[in-house]
Amino acid sequence: MIKLPYFDALLASLERGDPVVARAFGRHVHWGYWPDPGSAELTPQDFAAAAEALTREVCQAAAVTDGQRVLDAGCGFGGTVASINENHTEMEVYGLNIDQRQLARARKQVTSQPGNRICFVAGDACALPFADASFDAVVAVECIFHFPDRRCFFAEARRVLKPGGRLALSDFVATAPLLPVTLWSRLGIGGGFYGRCDLSYTRGGYWRLAEATGFAVETERDITANTLPTYSFLRRFGGALQVGAAAVAETGFAEIVSRLRLLRYMIYGFRAPDANG
Ligand SMILES: C[S@@+](CC[C@H](N)C(=O)[O-])C[C@H]1O[C@@H](n2cnc3c(N)ncnc32)[C@H](O)[C@@H]1O
Repeated sequence: MIKLPYFDALLASLERGDPVVARAFGRHVHWGYWPDPGSAELTPQDFAAAAEALTREVCQAAAVTDGQRVLDAGCGFGGTVASINENHTEMEVYGLNIDQRQLARARKQVTSQPGNRICFVAGDACALPFADASFDAVVAVECIFHFPDRRCFFAEARRVLKPGGRLALSDFVATAPLLPVTLWSRLGIGGGFYGRCDLSYTRGGYWRLAEATGFAVETERDITANTLPTYSFLRRFGGALQVGAAAVAETGFAEIVSRLRLLRYMIYGFRAPDANG
């Protein structure tokens, strides 16, 4: 069983009926995307809208469109599945998560629109319980750093994608000067508030990974500046989660290295080869 104390805190707050946590994190559990960061209002409503915007940016990188079969790996409370369901028709959307408690909430929260089909499945993103060449798109919003191994997930995504299918994700990507600090996280020692997070991947690492697993890089976007209001929001409302010093320290570290542009928030889109190679 994966240890993710921040989800324990979220689930406890949701259980208590905390309205700020329900509004800000009841659907999406990831950073926000503000097209104009200077205009961020930093209310729970504003943060929820920014979190929805980030999901849509990732879905755009995966070229999600009507009539597709889409997998959301590491689906949290089902926010990305809900967004795809609300914005597209004739869809078959799967949400996969390793944590049954999150899946239970997702199943309660997300109902398929007429013409769409939704299914939430328990499983590990590195051992996908799906047939070869069965999806048009795979998305993974802000979760790949938790997966046991990025390469293994890419190989699995490539296996389940149809020829020409897309994989898109968002991730915290290290720059070279930060590597000595983040290498410890690869060892899986960082079991603090956010659980094990491997923050040691670089842009070069993603290009090499794409090549090794047979993907072409279609999108590479540094959206760090668009996500920075997340930290101001967390400072203002993080108290609602009743978290301790580890949470404050880990979030503070992420904020400092992000503001220094040592840690980048990236969106990637990859394309599997067409049937003719
Ligand atoms: C930061 S949350 C993001 C959740 C969701 N993608 C969202 O954006 O709202 C990370 C998610 O990854 C999931 N996760 C971690 N390891 C996983 C694994 N090996 N396989 C599937 N899901 C995993 C966690 O349970 C959690 O839901």
